[in-house]
Amino acid sequence: AANPVSLKADEDDDEAFVATGKTKVTVFYGTQTGTAEGFAKALGEEIKARYEKAAVKVVDLDDYAADDEQYEEKLKKETLAFFMVSTYGDGEPTDNSTRFYKWFTEGNEKEPWLQQLTYGVFGLGNRQYEHFNKIAKVLDEKLSEKGAKCLIEVGLGDDDQCIEDDFTAWRELLWPELDQLLRGDDDENTVSTPYTAAIPEYRVVIHDTSVMPIEDHYSNIANGNASHDIHHPSRVNVAVQRELHKPESDRSCIHLEFDISGTGITYESGDHVGVYAENSTETVEEAARLLGQPLDLLFSIHTDNEDGTSHGSSLPPPFSCPCTLRTALARYADLLNPPRKAALIALAAYATEPSEAERLKFLSSPQGKDEYSQWVVKGHRSLLEVMAEFPSAKPPLGVFFAAIAPHLQPRYYSISSSPRFVPERIHVTCALVYGPTPTGRIHRGVCSTWMKNAVPLEKNNDCSWAPIFIRQSNFKLPADPSIPIIMVGPGTGFAPFRGFLQERVVLKKDGAELGPALLFFGCRNRRMDFIYEDELNNFVEQGALSELSVAFSREGPEKEYVQHKMMEKAAYIWSLISKGGHLYVCGDAKGMARDVHHTLHTIVQEQGNVDSSKAESMVKKLQVEGRYLRDVW
Ligand code: 2AM
Repeated sequence: AANPVSLKADEDDDEAFVATGKTKVTVFYGTQTGTAEGFAKALGEEIKARYEKAAVKVVDLDDYAADDEQYEEKLKKETLAFFMVSTYGDGEPTDNSTRFYKWFTEGNEKEPWLQQLTYGVFGLGNRQYEHFNKIAKVLDEKLSEKGAKCLIEVGLGDDDQCIEDDFTAWRELLWPELDQLLRGDDDENTVSTPYTAAIPEYRVVIHDTSVMPIEDHYSNIANGNASHDIHHPSRVNVAVQRELHKPESDRSCIHLEFDISGTGITYESGDHVGVYAENSTETVEEAARLLGQPLDLLFSIHTDNEDGTSHGSSLPPPFSCPCTLRTALARYADLLNPPRKAALIALAAYATEPSEAERLKFLSSPQGKDEYSQWVVKGHRSLLEVMAEFPSAKPPLGVFFAAIAPHLQPRYYSISSSPRFVPERIHVTCALVYGPTPTGRIHRGVCSTWMKNAVPLEKNNDCSWAPIFIRQSNFKLPADPSIPIIMVGPGTGFAPFRGFLQERVVLKKDGAELGPALLFFGCRNRRMDFIYEDELNNFVEQGALSELSVAFSREGPEKEYVQHKMMEKAAYIWSLISKGGHLYVCGDAKGMARDVHHTLHTIVQEQGNVDSSKAESMVKKLQVEGRYLRDVW
């Protein structure tokens, strides 16, 4: 959230830049999981180290202006700016860049008003998704439309490959351009100093046991402060937990209910819940062993920049302290993703066995690119697995939490309940992530494993709890309940529709006239993973759902998917759309949602009797009007 104190400091800074003759450089970031933030900080550090003339500031886009009115005035004062922006979900900006992005891209002013600005954009995305780096591309386009001068071609980082390499390559193109802008007259003929990033490190203080750990940090916030967000989650208990798959299934899908009574949390069906889970005890113990530290060690970390801003520092923000190593490893450390190259560099610095240090350096070097991609990425080697291969590398905790283990990120789930149907509860429907990796390790998803093992209040007073917060979405039922709806949600993609249907049960009870509702659900086999089967039948009986169509993909000789069922009902779907109906798709983006999109196109083309390009513009129109909504991952 915007911080008026830091805004005040900004204004002072502007004058200070002019006074010192320095050039102000602002590095903005739009981050969801912290990667863009890390890149922004690294870029800021490197610019600072290379150019004495540069006065660098790294800015969270959410903190830039307290309200929309301030954007224009502030941007007009920028002369050199970089944007590190991720594209997320269905081609959307990250939560912390949404407000800025909307404001910046939706204004349709004609005068170019950013002519004083020179800029560069680096995008973080994944080529597997349809809207690869959309946010970076659009931002780049809009900046130049508004008259800003593009310093360097937009960088399109691809997380499907090695995004750190893309970022390095983009920076290599940037330096010659910046040399021209930021080198003083004196150093015109000198070569820019070779730069090696310092390994970030927190200052660590070890406490004796008389200090109380702040393990109840979240509960403080839950009392009184009702505005929970990603930075201020609320601690809630697990009230209910049960398995949704039938015993015959070899997979697992969990139904979990969080008790939100007394927290002030509010939500609507279709919203998402962000959940901060814990690493399993097994994972935590393994990490402590590899670090050579006792789990009960009580410590705190410090940035020596305790105003909480971490301005100019490449350190990630610290977590709440003091805490035990057990808590820090369980709640704050991402231990199961493959380590970034920057983490290998930090590990190398602490490997006491020379051959281990050499190999770690090689893996993170340009020459070791293929080996890194093969051994780390393709092998799905987790950070812990890599550390186990280099036992002499025992980094100090200050380095481990700053440079090696990224912050454990919250996981998002489409809420599977309606607050009108189950007040004080948030339901989650979560498929267990579990499977062997190429090295034979069994990978267990952090949050789904936590949910699988969660102990509910109905079974034990000493139940599981988690810090959670709501992320609002625009995946919402039409305001008028008589408008027809078509829902497509195989597997856990059914989650938000369960909320919609609960909502319709209540609406109907309250006397509302309900329009038709069609649901396409898909699973492998009726006897295994037909989740919420009884509830679905009840929704039909109660009139909340007018038609249920289920595709079983592994019952017959042929795969049957939701889109096949849609084709069977093409005429009906078309008639509902023609009557102003809304279409919703939820679930896997790369396969299902893409295929369903093509099917919709086909239905519009065939039923509407139009050519392909007309069908495309009709589908686009549905999207623009908010009548074709997708909640995909
Ligand atoms: P499968 O695993 O048998 O291929 C929920 O996960 C259901 O979605 C499963 O029945 C799964 O089938 C199915 N599914 C997998 N890929 C799909 C796709 N591209 N389109 C639609 N459904 C798909």
